[in-house]
Amino acid sequence: MKEGFEKDRGEAIPDARIRELIGKAEEQLRLAYAPYSGFCVAAALLCEDGTVYTGCNVENASYPAGNCAERTAVFKAVSEGRREFSGIVIMGGPGGRTGSYCPPCGICRQVLREFCRPLGFSVILARSAEDYRVFSLEELLPESFGPEFLDG
Ligand code: THU
Repeated sequence: MKEGFEKDRGEAIPDARIRELIGKAEEQLRLAYAPYSGFCVAAALLCEDGTVYTGCNVENASYPAGNCAERTAVFKAVSEGRREFSGIVIMGGPGGRTGSYCPPCGICRQVLREFCRPLGFSVILARSAEDYRVFSLEELLPESFGPEFLDG
């Protein structure tokens, strides 16, 4: 892990690009599989090369076996060779209604931390293409533990 990794700031994601990601997350929300909680979540993960991976939550009759939308998106991307990310849009709510922002759970914050620069990665919580809030991963997971701690 390169020196100063945790201090790197990326370029801000332009508003037009954010709205595009929100559109993709909105489409993905229809595919959420949440028969147990009824709480549907979708994510759209922007890679540094411009590729976008979407993900939704996928629940299971054995409840802990379910997976969150954000991790679905990260695991899809990493399994296809992407490891550098600029931001993620997250949206969802009961029955797929997006009246409130849907913040990422603690496990998803840690999974994002594995690949993303805390100050250079944007977590975008969206209710619609016109209503979203942008946070750095650092704001949502301060003083975090990441792969560089395991170096030598
Ligand atoms: N969920 C996500 O997909 N992402 C989060 O960060 C919060 C929670 C899902 C998991 C579960 O399927 C449902 O929302 C209720 O917890």
